[in-house]
Amino acid sequence: MKVKKAVFPVAGMGTRFLPATKANPKEMLPIVDKPLIQYAVEEAVAAGINELIFVTNSSKRAIEDHFDKNYEMEAELDKRGKHDLLSQLRRIVPEGVSCVYVRQPEALGLGHAVLCARRVVGDEPFAVILADDLISGHGMSCLGQMMQAFDESQVSVLGVERVDPKMTEKYGIVKIDEEGARLSRVSAIVEKPRMEDAPSNLAVVGRYLLRPEIFNLLENTGRGSGGEIQLTDAIAQLLRQQAVMAYEFAGKRYDCGSKLGYLQATVEYALEHNEVGDAFRRYLQDFREK
Ligand code: UTP
Repeated sequence: MKVKKAVFPVAGMGTRFLPATKANPKEMLPIVDKPLIQYAVEEAVAAGINELIFVTNSSKRAIEDHFDKNYEMEAELDKRGKHDLLSQLRRIVPEGVSCVYVRQPEALGLGHAVLCARRVVGDEPFAVILADDLISGHGMSCLGQMMQAFDESQVSVLGVERVDPKMTEKYGIVKIDEEGARLSRVSAIVEKPRMEDAPSNLAVVGRYLLRPEIFNLLENTGRGSGGEIQLTDAIAQLLRQQAVMAYEFAGKRYDCGSKLGYLQATVEYALEHNEVGDAFRRYLQDFREK
């Protein structure tokens, strides 16, 4: 089976970015000129996804508007002859791709947010993408790489990355069977372990390909770390029933849910940007010399 649906949980509170996220969704923060959620959607679509399922709440309407048509803006751009911008706007949701919005009534955690998408996903494998993890893949996007692993194995695949061992408390951490392999079976997974309890320093980042059996497990997952219903805890149960693989992707991840990661992404994406890249590089050089 091919993965055709992606769930974007965007109902978190974004407390690390307050006050910017008081009235604006964290996922709408721009990296140069594009909101984080659009990078995530582009990655999904490039990997073959054609149904985008956003798990939102009442303060995330800007996301729905972003992926909807803006007739006034389009008419105005047309009138002014700004056809490049117009076609950029029209390509935000490519032809053949549809958007569905599901509400998470209370921010009960990532696991709960994914469970809210159950009816729309149905009985098929699906992707989960956390837009605040911005990943620039080497050659192919992170999700594209994971999709190849899924196509071959048809089992759930988690995107993982080595992190500083002192940082394990911020992530779900996996133990794998074959140390050093890019793709390996997961033998254990723990949410936010302290450094001394962590089974490794391989952290799950915001990319998952999951089999639908995860939903029954999520239904029965109680509150875990931080009082939230954790996706990691349901994956720990899934491991007892079927194989789950960890995929160490080739690429670079920016934790744009944190201020530092966001700034790093902004600088690096700005340096690569068609329009401002060269001028920005010159600016940074001058700035360093002063
Ligand atoms: P985070 O742990 O980054 O939480 O959630 P957050 O609330 O967005 O940000 P901080 O930590 O308060 O700054 C990981 C992902 O899960 C989603 C978030 O939107 C984010 O994409 N999420 C989290 C939900 O959709 N619902 C929840 O109840 C919790």
